[in-house]
Amino acid sequence: MTENMTFLAMQGISKYFAKVIANDKIDIDVKYGEILGILGENGAGKTTLMNILYGLYAPDEGQIVIDDQPVSIHSPKDSILHGIGMVHQHFMLVPTHTVVENIILGMSSQKGRLRLRQAAEEILTLSQQLGFQIDPFSYIRDLPVGTQQKVEILKSIYRGAKLLIMDEPTAVLTPQETEEMFKILRHFTGSGNAVIFITHKLNEVMAITDRITVLRDGKLIGTVKRTETTTNELARMMVGRDIALTVNKHAQPISAEIGLRVENVTVQNQHHKNVLHNLSLTIQRGEILGIAGVSGNGQEELAEVLSGLRKVSSGHIYVKGREVTNLSAKEMIEHGVSFIPEDRQHTGLILDMSIYENLMLKSFYRTPFSNRHFLNKQATLNHAATLIANYNIKTPSPATKVKNLSGGHQQKVVVARELSLEPEVLIAFQPTRGLDIGAIEYVHTLILQARNEGKSVLLISTELSEIFSLSDRIGVLYQGEILKIFEAADATIEEVGLLMAGVKEKTTGMKNKKE
Ligand SMILES: Nc1ncnc2c1ncn2[C@@H]1O[C@H](COP(=O)(O)OP(=O)(O)OP(=O)(O)O)[C@@H](O)[C@H]1O
Ligand SMILES: [Mg+2]
Repeated sequence: MTENMTFLAMQGISKYFAKVIANDKIDIDVKYGEILGILGENGAGKTTLMNILYGLYAPDEGQIVIDDQPVSIHSPKDSILHGIGMVHQHFMLVPTHTVVENIILGMSSQKGRLRLRQAAEEILTLSQQLGFQIDPFSYIRDLPVGTQQKVEILKSIYRGAKLLIMDEPTAVLTPQETEEMFKILRHFTGSGNAVIFITHKLNEVMAITDRITVLRDGKLIGTVKRTETTTNELARMMVGRDIALTVNKHAQPISAEIGLRVENVTVQNQHHKNVLHNLSLTIQRGEILGIAGVSGNGQEELAEVLSGLRKVSSGHIYVKGREVTNLSAKEMIEHGVSFIPEDRQHTGLILDMSIYENLMLKSFYRTPFSNRHFLNKQATLNHAATLIANYNIKTPSPATKVKNLSGGHQQKVVVARELSLEPEVLIAFQPTRGLDIGAIEYVHTLILQARNEGKSVLLISTELSEIFSLSDRIGVLYQGEILKIFEAADATIEEVGLLMAGVKEKTTGMKNKKE
């Protein structure tokens, strides 16, 4: 039996980026059949360490050992040869290609075009062995994120991975999809394979890992057995202090004034199918309306319509009584609508531009940053420096390109920019995706603060805990319709969960606040 034998170890690994020490003499090891969790705050060095293991970065110090033999890994090709696969924090599939094309893309030539059909069969069998089914000929762009991720997993295993690195794999998944993915990972490790699992979610660490390694500021804090630790201990190891794991929301009088009104909005997709159907909602000033739902039920379309990125086919939208239906994204900003998008890498940021430029993207034409013709660079730099300090964005300089920030710090740049616009209406779509617990605590505080200042907040999230801890009212979106809107105090996780799955209970006479 190979169990309890060390499969792979990283020993004394260091990595520097100019002045930043991303990894400082880190030791980790993974055993056969084990799921090792890696925990750490945003910027702690998790992704960097895994990029080294996968051959994307060369370490400045240290070595990698597999089955007690030092190995040299200089590229992902080398790591795949050594049985290491990686599912990245941001997926790397080609949307316009099919599942099978994506899986065999870039593999050696005998696995090329002629073998497509055979590969498709192998992929089908492999997916069944792992406990799910997938159509190898469907296009990536048509698949929900949860399924895209399964494709990433299949791709690695098809290429011979015995160790799967999963970098924040659940950040984009619904609770059901997460549960399915856990099953797949357990199947995978059940036969002696190993997984390294990076996440910020302590409940997931406790649910799936065998041991947990904690990093902080590029340093190894320690490795503990899951059965011998607690979420509180892990949080303390991660952050270096005790932190509140729940937010304290104080009830507060809500102004009767309506900040955002959506009236009978219908949106069609390119196939003329209704993706939002006669949807109505209102949000008062000083109120947070949470929209729960399994992703793919119209959340994206709702967010896009409200941020001017998509047109409605019928219906009306008003901000503080002024009609804004079908205005452009820039006009929506001018009407006081801020938008934290779900997909920071495509919609939220320009990765090749600096932090300070990204922070200015939506306000560069305003004073004090511009006097109609000239950009005031000093003002933009000052603005950036303030936000970087307030949001604790870890970077050597405001001029650093956003693509060189850790995932969580990229998210902070988006949140900082949107809230700094001082909006009337804030559309927050998965605002804390990828953030560590300290940063989540901070962003939640900011969202509550925006509410307390009289802003209307639409919080769209697949994290039920987030919806429940922040919302004043909770609506459930299912197949483009809001099935019900609850007062937060009247909502239970069970009932919301059932509605998310489309199960409508018999009406109990509870008032439906939907207007
Ligand atoms: N290519 C790069 N160039 C410069 N600095 C980098 C680069 N990649 C990472 N860094 C820096 O190294 C540090 C560690 O980043 P890393 O992405 O490993 O963090 P992480 O633990 O994965 O964080 P997160 O949870 O936010 O994804 C950060 O300060 C980051 O800005
Ligand atoms: Mg990362």
